Amino acid sequence: MGMLLTGLNSCFSLNLFKKIVQCSSNRIFSSLKRELHLTSICLHGEYEWQDPKSESEVVNITYIDRDGKKHAVRGKVGDNVLYLAHRYAIEMEGACEASLACTTCHVYVEGDYLSKLPIPEEKEEDLLDMAPFLKENSRLGCQIILNKSLEGMCLRLPIATRNFYVDGHKPKPH
Ligand code: FES
Repeated sequence: MGMLLTGLNSCFSLNLFKKIVQCSSNRIFSSLKRELHLTSICLHGEYEWQDPKSESEVVNITYIDRDGKKHAVRGKVGDNVLYLAHRYAIEMEGACEASLACTTCHVYVEGDYLSKLPIPEEKEEDLLDMAPFLKENSRLGCQIILNKSLEGMCLRLPIATRNFYVDGHKPKPH
């Protein structure tokens, strides 16, 4: 009888333990989900609004706007140059918000910095093929993330960009 009670007791405890674990993990999971959701909202250009935490993070770049005016900007490692441009009111549109569905973030990468960038993925190349005023040093700004090797980089904005969706022209796959 004693053994039976001990067995029932441990069975009860085990079930109770399982329920507690399940309940806590559900709570942890939903709080994690909430946190991830908030984080993804915060990361949507919010990062570029934060100043560098130390000099070792700083990446100085220059934007040249459509009028030829230079804007020296103190960026940092990890900044997306589209959102960094937004922070400093430089007219790089970014209509699709970096989802690779437009060419309104088109920029020319000056000098030999083009070779320091990762090779564009196929989707970026396909979009660039449809960008007005395409040049050999064309890239989509939203695909450029700063790192230390890009210190001194200069990005020139083309005289105009086109938003396929606004113009009623949707990009087709090749
Ligand atoms: S913002 Fe649309 S592709 Fe860069």
